[in-house]
Amino acid sequence: MLNKDFLWGGSTAANQIEGGYDEGNKGDCISDHLTGGTLETRRCFTKRIDPQKNYPSHEAVDFYHHYKEDIALFAQMGFKVFRMSIAWSRIYPTGEENEPNEEGLKFYDDVFDECLKYGIEPLVTLHHFDMPYLLVEKYQGFLNRKVIDLFVKYATTVFERYKNKVKYWLTFNEINFACIPMGNLEVLGIYHEKTKDYTEPYDNLQDRYQALHHVFLASAKAVRVGHKINKNFKIGCMIAHVTLYPYSCHPQDMLLAQKTDHLFNDFCGDVQVRGYYPYYIKEYFKENKIHIIKEENDDVLLKKGCVDFYSFSYYMSNCISCQEGLETSMGNLLGGVTNPYLKSSEWGWQIDPEGLRYTLNKLYDRYQIPLMIVENGIGAVDVKDANNLIHDTYRVEYIKKHIEQMKRAVDDGVDLKGYMMWSPIDIISSSTGEMKKRYGLIYIDRDDYGNGDFSRYPKDSFYWYKKVIDTNGEIL
Ligand code: BG6
Repeated sequence: MLNKDFLWGGSTAANQIEGGYDEGNKGDCISDHLTGGTLETRRCFTKRIDPQKNYPSHEAVDFYHHYKEDIALFAQMGFKVFRMSIAWSRIYPTGEENEPNEEGLKFYDDVFDECLKYGIEPLVTLHHFDMPYLLVEKYQGFLNRKVIDLFVKYATTVFERYKNKVKYWLTFNEINFACIPMGNLEVLGIYHEKTKDYTEPYDNLQDRYQALHHVFLASAKAVRVGHKINKNFKIGCMIAHVTLYPYSCHPQDMLLAQKTDHLFNDFCGDVQVRGYYPYYIKEYFKENKIHIIKEENDDVLLKKGCVDFYSFSYYMSNCISCQEGLETSMGNLLGGVTNPYLKSSEWGWQIDPEGLRYTLNKLYDRYQIPLMIVENGIGAVDVKDANNLIHDTYRVEYIKKHIEQMKRAVDDGVDLKGYMMWSPIDIISSSTGEMKKRYGLIYIDRDDYGNGDFSRYPKDSFYWYKKVIDTNGEIL
């Protein structure tokens, strides 16, 4: 049985919904340099914005001009919470200004006021795969320690400004994306011309983990500042949890699954929840000749900047095996061996609702602090018929099965504060930049070629989710 104050809602990210990329004095950010792609071609990063190319985030789904309409629709579904991110480059266009950009601050004031008007609690991510582009070009993002202070300046500005409007914050979205080469750019801001080469991405382990150390410090400092500004703030971490099973009971599969789980799923949460580097990472650093350069106070800072709650995204699970030649599956960030007991989405992500119950139990056992599911959903090709109806039964089925398992985990005793599906409105896909990979409960008239007038149409899943929230998850 869920508590009556359970936080039901949905999640988004600025670079995937806002658009208005050059409005309101906003500066260029990383995603403004990412072209549209497909599952096969993926996205490219261009140093200069090329007018001949398509950059989906420039208009995205135009939340910048439609936020009132969108939030009214969220209210109609009965949302208790709306997760969104602030675009750092709306507040500090290059990241280096001394004074924040008032137009950017005002935009988020308006968005939060609109949420609060309907009793919707905003839950805000400070960094969702984005930073002012200048910081990439000039400093290689968080590889340079100076960017920690620039991030803390930005965090302090928004904490101060919205201290009476926003209570729930997340520092870095899917911070553990930094533990695989593809996360160099999105989380760390490190760019190399082969960064976006999906077959053989550029990588330098020493740089990656050094930059991640700086991200941990930036997060810990932000947590400290936030608690000083408002002691009622609840500030969380956000991990992409790709649940991993050993493919067989062979002890070598068990050990490899445990190691991969530690390195990808556990490492960042362990640092952010416990405030120190876990024992197993030392051996990994030794094996890979990684030496983290720390300043005197760093360990104290990590310890003092622990998060209040643990949030995570859950889309799928994968298997791990030592055997070669097994069939493999793609996935959200981390691929693996195909699980013969599961089906996959159109984009090859293996659907595993019971894995959510397993994961919630694992995480609560590990950390013993409140949890939040802040992303869960399915990307699919939706068809709008002549009457503007969208019969997305597969989405209802996906979310329903996950909520069933989430409720069972709560019955198991897990302290879960909320469920935010991804995403209440169609958005551009983060990995491929596509519009046709739709996640929303609300359809948006926009395609991969820039056609469409951004009209909004509730899908069947919209009415279904409204009923779920109305009954606090009793009727699914
Ligand atoms: C998560 C991200 O990895 O997965 C989101 O936090 C992203 O930004 C979501 O949109 C789904 O991934 P994709 O690539 O299908 O958009």
